[in-house]
Amino acid sequence: MTTTKTKIAGFDFDNCLMNAAGVACMTVEELEEVKNSAAGTFVTKTATLDFRQGNPEPRYQDVPLGSINSMGLPNNGLDYYLDYLLELQESEPNRTFFLSLVGMSPEETHTILQKVQASDFKGITELNLSCPNVPGKPQIAYDFETTEKILSEVFAYFTNPLGIKLPPYFDIVHFDQAAAIFNKYPLKFVNCVNSIGNGLYIKDESVVIRPKNGFGGIGGQYIKPTALANVHAFYQRLKPEIQIIGTGGVLTGRDAFEHILCGASMVQVGTTLHKEGVVAFERITAELKAIMEEKGYESLEDFRGKLKYID
Ligand SMILES: Cc1cc2nc3c(=O)[nH]c(=O)nc-3n(C[C@H](O)[C@H](O)[C@H](O)COP(=O)(O)O)c2cc1C
Repeated sequence: MTTTKTKIAGFDFDNCLMNAAGVACMTVEELEEVKNSAAGTFVTKTATLDFRQGNPEPRYQDVPLGSINSMGLPNNGLDYYLDYLLELQESEPNRTFFLSLVGMSPEETHTILQKVQASDFKGITELNLSCPNVPGKPQIAYDFETTEKILSEVFAYFTNPLGIKLPPYFDIVHFDQAAAIFNKYPLKFVNCVNSIGNGLYIKDESVVIRPKNGFGGIGGQYIKPTALANVHAFYQRLKPEIQIIGTGGVLTGRDAFEHILCGASMVQVGTTLHKEGVVAFERITAELKAIMEEKGYESLEDFRGKLKYID
């Protein structure tokens, strides 16, 4: 029997596909829809301490090969997502869900993580390091000094399962430097990748989103090669206790297969879910299973990380 079951941080999931943070996860209604679909689990919209309205619209645009967005982290605030997850722990004790979060400053990040630590939340926390932190500085994960400082401070008090969401890196030295930092900490996973930052899409003579004069994060087909490279680069460099979640450019079962071949233990779907709705999970799962059957693979372990090189 072919199965797409997987494990992250020791927790079991019936399917290795789930939503990517920011898509179909802003409200409880959207999260319920993902939960009740063929997805193995869900992750919430990245929560800040308080409600945020986000940027003015239009702030998301589907484009032929993907999407561009500058959402500005709209979300309902930590308590909204944490309260729902705590309820789910009672009603669905056999399933595990992901809470995504980040503060608008290092102090806020610690306040949020301390709140989660002090709560009864037993699920998995994803700290979004691909977010702006201090004005005038790059997003956290592009600033290795800040990344290391935050991780060392966080692991002084945070003992629940924790992983990080990363932006794409584009330089081999950056893969080496980032992995050397992550390997020092008891991270359960890294999630590669967030959108490719600050692209520009033009229609006729105009940009297509309002914020930042049209600059926005790119998702979808455009980013699969970059996403696969990041998944595989970290798979090669991280200690085996740190698993990889693959995100970026997953439209088909073949795309999910490639992420797993590069080393992913879980695969997230963003832009395609936005375009197609939760039925995408059933379709992509069926396509992935068909590829596995054709190749004689019964489980993800049979091919995870087994990307072949040319001698
Ligand atoms: C509308 C939108 C909102 C997003 N919001 C978040 C977010 O809150 N937190 C996060 O970690 N990533 C966020 N992302 C990035 C996605 O989780 C994902 O990493 C990225 O879109 C690449 O995957 P894709 O090619 O499947 O779209 C967002 C993406 C989109 C399109």
